[in-house]
Amino acid sequence: MQLLDGQLASLTIKDSLTLKVAQLLAEGKKTPHLAAVLVGNNGASETYVGAKVRTCSEIGYRSTLVRLEETISENKLLNVIEELNNDMEVDGILVQLPLPKHISDEKVINAVHPDKDVDGFHPINVGKMVQGLPTFIPATPHGIILLLEHYKIDTRGMHAVIVGRSNIVGKPMSILLSSNANPGNCTVTLCHSQTRDLKGYCRQADILVAALGKPEFVTGDMVKEGVIIIDVGITRVADPTRKSGFALKGDVNFAEVAPKSAYITPVPRGVGPMTIAALMKHT
Ligand code: GUN
Repeated sequence: MQLLDGQLASLTIKDSLTLKVAQLLAEGKKTPHLAAVLVGNNGASETYVGAKVRTCSEIGYRSTLVRLEETISENKLLNVIEELNNDMEVDGILVQLPLPKHISDEKVINAVHPDKDVDGFHPINVGKMVQGLPTFIPATPHGIILLLEHYKIDTRGMHAVIVGRSNIVGKPMSILLSSNANPGNCTVTLCHSQTRDLKGYCRQADILVAALGKPEFVTGDMVKEGVIIIDVGITRVADPTRKSGFALKGDVNFAEVAPKSAYITPVPRGVGPMTIAALMKHT
C-alpha cells in the first residue's frame, strides 16, 4: 500500500506557481489576485476559505476575502459579484458553497463571469469541460487528476467507480476519468443514493472515488485487493479527546481499506491540499 500524499504533491505545484509569480513580476506584470466570497459563519467553510487565502499569500498571490452576513439578500450578493466581475484588479472569483437556504446557488454560479470562474462551476465552463475543450475544471476533481499524474498512475482501461453525483465532485470526476486523456481513459460507473447493489459495483472498482459525505462509509468488504482509493470525504465528527472537539473523517474506513489498497489518499492531507493547489493553478 502506498499513500497518495496530497500535502507533498501540492508542494510541487505551489513551488512552480511561486516561480511563475516571480517571472510575472520580473516582466513588469501584476501578481494574480483571487477574490473569495464567504457568506455566513459555517465552520467548515471558514476553514476552507482560510486555507485558500493563506495559500495565496504563501505563493505570492494577492487575495481579497469578502465576508458577508448570513442574512444578506440574494440581490445584494449578486451585486457584490457584479462588482468583482467588473474589477480589473481581480482575476479569479470563488463563492464558497454551501450558501444560506434563501439564496439560489444557481443564480450565484451563473453570475460569476466565466473568465473569472476559477471554480469551474459556470454552465459555460462545465459545457466546455464535457466537450474536452480547455477551460476551468472544478478544483477537487482537477486536484485528483493532478494527484494521479504526480504519482504517475496509468489509469488507461481501468474501471473507475465514483460514489456520489454532486456537481462539484462526482459528476465532473466521471467526465474527466472517462475522457481521452491520461490520467483518464477509464470505464466509469457513477453510483449514487439510488444505486442497487452499491457494494457489488464498488467491489469491481480498479479506482474507487468516494465522494458521498458519509464518514467511513466504504468498509473493507466493499473493495477488492489492489484497488486505488481516492477519499474525497472530510466530515467533522465529535471527538472530546481533541482540543478542537472534533476529528476529520473521510468517506473510507482507512484502517480496514488501506491494507487491501495499492494506493490510498489519507484524510486529512490527501485530496484537500490538491483542491487548493488546483484552484491556485486556475487563478
Ligand atoms: N464547497 C465545497 N467544495 C467547494 C469548492 O471546491 N468550491 C467552492 N466554492 N465551494 C465549495
